[in-house]
This record gives sequence, structure tokens and C-alpha cells, in this order.
Amino acid sequence: MRSLKVFSLFIIVAMILAACGGTGSTGGDTGTQKELKVAILAPLSGPVPTFGVSTRDGALLAIEEWNAKGGVLGYKIVPIVEDSQCTPEPAVNAMNKVVNQDGVKFVIGEVCSKATIPMTDIGTASKVIIVSGTSTAEAVTVDTNGNTKPYTFRACFIDAFQGLVGAKFATGTMGAKTAFILLDQANDYVKGLAEEFEKNFVAMGGTVVGKESYTAKDSDFSTILSKITEAKPDVVYLPDYYNIVNLVTKQAKEKGITTPFMGGDGWDSADLDLAAAEGGYFTNHYSPDDPRPEVVNFLAAYGAKYKDDAGNPKVPDALATLAYDATNMLFQGITEAGSVDDVDKVKTALENIKFNAVSGKITLDAKHNPIKAAAILKVTAEGVVFETSVAP
Ligand code: PHE
Repeated sequence: MRSLKVFSLFIIVAMILAACGGTGSTGGDTGTQKELKVAILAPLSGPVPTFGVSTRDGALLAIEEWNAKGGVLGYKIVPIVEDSQCTPEPAVNAMNKVVNQDGVKFVIGEVCSKATIPMTDIGTASKVIIVSGTSTAEAVTVDTNGNTKPYTFRACFIDAFQGLVGAKFATGTMGAKTAFILLDQANDYVKGLAEEFEKNFVAMGGTVVGKESYTAKDSDFSTILSKITEAKPDVVYLPDYYNIVNLVTKQAKEKGITTPFMGGDGWDSADLDLAAAEGGYFTNHYSPDDPRPEVVNFLAAYGAKYKDDAGNPKVPDALATLAYDATNMLFQGITEAGSVDDVDKVKTALENIKFNAVSGKITLDAKHNPIKAAAILKVTAEGVVFETSVAP
């Protein structure tokens, strides 16, 4: 009985708020300019907080720039930022909140594939467009029957390409004939990327001399590292996020392992332990050293808005860049669709988009995946430097 009363009170308050709040589910009309709510779901806490901060900041910069130009189709964009923690449950909760409570029709995020994948079920069921900047696993845009999820898009290449590029570089430039692979089977991204690397490395004539699994909760990798010492591979492939890479590479150095490590975009963080990962390489979406004017202009705008602890302009990582790209891609799609309400029109506009992103020109294939180049970066004690770029 009591809960019924509380519930009724909640409904009344909600109705009053809705009556004061504005017109439709997506937009509001406070003051002179109509408003369009856009959600940003990013891992601000949890295992990989630098991913969340960069993603939020990249998306907010794009929103600020659109609002300075008058908004999208005349609507002022109102961001709603939620912490989705790179983890399925909080990501689903955040998605439900922005869809059901805030009434958003457009979501930027998540970063981590394993968080984005369950969010897309809600997006498909509720006709809400999701554009992830950085989730690279195949299952983000394609369901288990192989069908493209109608309202899910991304601004990044996928792991089939990233694994191929990694294997090419390992067998080519690094001259590796043997590889040892480390992976977390419970992480869709890590597992998928490890599989793609292995498949391509073997197809290119390489031999996988060892493959070991760990879990995200492990902190002592000595057993696995002893196996690497024994197997003497030419390269160790570790396609996980920076928090795990820091642990493993530090313990490897302490054990005297000098074999170079290689990984994927998950290494990209201001918190990557450079001393530990020194000598390693990773595939990524972009390099700030790229001289294209899109990159130069973005670096200037980002650095003017965001400063590091010492007060110096922050250099955007791939997360910030792709969140910026994903957000701009969404608004270009909405503009070309000519509607903030007709989600199907926006979906069609996105499917046909030709978008000049900071991270490279984007057109989408039938699975809503961009075809674009990857960068290979090298970890040195002083920082991460651009090595080469590989086109599809
Ligand atoms: N690609 C990773 C994933 O799908 C996320 C990521 C992208 C991390 C870019 C760092 C940089 O889970």
C-alpha cells in the first residue's frame, strides 16, 4: 500500500515535471530555442576512466561547436552524460535511464564493445540511434543471426581489420615468425581481436607458440609469464586495455622478458605505463602527428578547451577524437535527414553518409562499419610515436 502511494506521488511529480519541461520526448522548448537531448555514455569510473573522460570531452567539444553555429536544425543540443563504466550492467542501466526517463533518441557511446553490445538491444527495441566512437568488436553492429542492427552505427574500423593490420606489421616490419597470445576470454573486444590477429598471423606464415587466458581480476601474471620465457616468441600479442597492459608489461620487464609486446587500440591512454610498455607497438585509429588539416584544427580546438594538470593544452587521444567524430557524424546525419524526430530518416542518412572525420574519411559498409585506415604507434620511454599508417 505504502509503495503504491509513493508510486502515485512519483507519477504526479513526473507529470508536473513533464508539463513544465517542454514539448516532445526528444526536444524541449525552454526559452527561445528548441532543445535536442543527446546522451553520452562513457566509462568515467571503473577499470578504464581515461577512456571515459576523453570520450565525454571529445563529444562535448563537438556539441559546443554545433551550438555555437546555432545548433542542429535550429535545435540547441543538450548533452546528458552518464557513467557506463565499460561494464554491461551499468551501461544497460544508463541506456534505460536516458531512453525511458530522459526520452533521448540519440546516444553517443559506449567505448568498450562489451558494454555497447547489450545497449544495442535497447536501441533496436526502442528505435534509438547509437553511434559508438570506438567499439570495434564485430557484434556491436551485427546481431547473432548476422543481420545489421538497424539503429546502431560506429565511427571506427572493426577488429577484423585491426587484427589484420597487427599481424601484417608483426610479420612484416617486426619480422616475427612466432607469437604468443594473451587474452581475457570474457571481454568481447579482447577475444575477437586476439582471434583476428591469430588467424591472420598464421595465414601470413607465422606460428603461434603459446596462448594463455587470464581474467580481468588477475593481478599476478607470473605463471603465464614463465611460459613466455620458455616459449621464446618473437612477439607477445596482448590486445587488452591499458590497465591490464600496465600490469602485464611491468611484470614482464621485472622478469627480464625483452620480447616486444603488441596490442590494439585499448592501449591508447595517457595512463599507459610508458616505462613498462616501452618497445611495444599498437594499432590505433589516429595519430596526433598526422598533418591533415582536420587533425591540426581539432588539436587546436581541443587543446584550447582542455588543459592537463600542469595547465598545458591536452592532446586528444583516439577516444576523444572518435567521440568527436561520432558526434559530428550523428549531427551531419540529422542535418541531412532534415529531422530530429524521424529516426528512420536519420538512420538512412547515416547509412549513406560521406563524412570527413578527423580520424579519416568515413563511408559505411552494409554492416554500418566505416572503412578506414589504421595507424601503428610505437611506445617509447618519452611517449607514444607514430610509426606508420595502413590503408584497408
Ligand atoms: N576498441 C575498444 C573496444 O571495442 C575500445 C577502445 C577504443 C579503447 C579505442 C581504446 C581506444 O572495446
